[in-house]
Amino acid sequence: MSAKNTLETLENVRENISSSLTEGVKNRKSDFRTFTFCTSGKFPAGRTVVLRGYNAEHGIITLHSNYYADKIEDLNINPKVCCVFYSKGMKIQIRCFGRAVVNYDNKRSSHAWAKMSDMSKECYFQVPNPGTIMERYNDFSKETIDKKSEAFSVIDVDIEKIDWLYLKREGHRRANIFVKESAKDTWVSP
Ligand SMILES: Cc1cc2nc3c(=O)[nH]c(=O)nc-3n(C[C@H](O)[C@H](O)[C@H](O)COP(=O)(O)O)c2cc1C
Repeated sequence: MSAKNTLETLENVRENISSSLTEGVKNRKSDFRTFTFCTSGKFPAGRTVVLRGYNAEHGIITLHSNYYADKIEDLNINPKVCCVFYSKGMKIQIRCFGRAVVNYDNKRSSHAWAKMSDMSKECYFQVPNPGTIMERYNDFSKETIDKKSEAFSVIDVDIEKIDWLYLKREGHRRANIFVKESAKDTWVSP
């Protein structure tokens, strides 16, 4: 966090969210590198994922997923999601509420695939699909084929609202940020 940012104004909060998530994309060691991606399909579910992109201007969070994973089925039932970030060091929780769009076999997924490392690509050649019942723990294989996996997808979350919480001994601070409608930004009781 920049020394100038005292987290005392809603502008400070916006700047904090933007810098934290941008850092999460770039820096593997950042607390914001991973987050809990929560869906509400047949059942509520949360799982850890890697933050692959953050567009501060348009309020879009990007992650990658196997297209045959349960979360995709959840999103087909209900695209409304929540992305929960927490930094123990900064004592900041960022919850982003929005709508997910699954990019599968399109320009966006092809572009992301082209930029991935071979190691990351390998996960998308796993047989059988994630969540399949197996006899033994190692009853699966990963065959790297020199082409785009047909199991790869990119999920973009179009953020509607961000609930930001800063834990502070003298008094916690909480704000709601509306990425595309800053006039609605407001402090809320923690
Ligand atoms: C540190 C960490 C990072 C992970 N990153 C991803 C990821 O970027 N994308 C993903 O689909 N799953 C990722 N996973 C696995 C998910 O947590 C989850 O097990 C998997 O996606 C299956 O979830 P689902 O059945 O609800 O779709 C990660 C797990 C951990 C522990």
